Amino acid sequence: MNKLFPGIWKKDEKIITQNLVPGDKTYTKNIFNFRGREYREWNPFKSKACAAIACGLREFPLKSGLKVLYLGISFGQTATFFSDIIGKDGIIYGVELSERCLTDLNSVAEKRGNIVPILGDARKPDEYGWIEPVDLIYEDVASDDQAEIMIRNSSHFLKPGGFAMIAIKARSIDVVKEPRIVFKEQLEILKKHFEVVETRDIEKFEKDHLFVVLKRKT
Ligand SMILES: C[S@@+](CC[C@H](N)C(=O)[O-])C[C@H]1O[C@@H](n2cnc3c(N)ncnc32)[C@H](O)[C@@H]1O
Repeated sequence: MNKLFPGIWKKDEKIITQNLVPGDKTYTKNIFNFRGREYREWNPFKSKACAAIACGLREFPLKSGLKVLYLGISFGQTATFFSDIIGKDGIIYGVELSERCLTDLNSVAEKRGNIVPILGDARKPDEYGWIEPVDLIYEDVASDDQAEIMIRNSSHFLKPGGFAMIAIKARSIDVVKEPRIVFKEQLEILKKHFEVVETRDIEKFEKDHLFVVLKRKT
């Protein structure tokens, strides 16, 4: 078993996390035991963060105990793996626009204990202005104003020097423009507020997507 990042390992070509809720198989095909601990397989075809890791990402700034704001948490698929990584001392505030997703997310959150589902619009951070400052923001919202959403939320909630990760979907921003050009333009917008730590093309798993790791300028 090879350690990739804190709380993330590779075993037999599979990316795995330690299951925070032993016995629970939600959003994983496989759970298995190794030296008395239970692990879950993380599928890169179902999670852009996992896809970025599978594509060789070098910096993944999520670790035990962190406070996270997750924009576009959906049914909580990727969030369950983040929940494994941050453990019981961390917390994920998960914002989602769709009520339908929230219903499923609520039962996931109840089991895990470190996810707080929030029905809200990521474009309007005042709707959840009560949350505490966070160490990391993760955004996976397919819209044409993805970069602005990240900037707005980071100015409200991200601690100085905190990290952000965003999966940029070129076709949501411009359906006709070459994705490479769209990525370049989005990075220029983000660079005014963040240092770009790393970019990773995740085309192999998600068409026309770029995964970006950012650090807030202090
Ligand atoms: C690609 S899915 C997210 C998948 C999820 N991140 C995962 O990996 O498990 C995008 C989600 O963003 C939500 N969304 C879109 N616009 C939003 C907004 N303005 N505020 C909050 N959520 C939004 C959608 O309802 C959808 O559930």
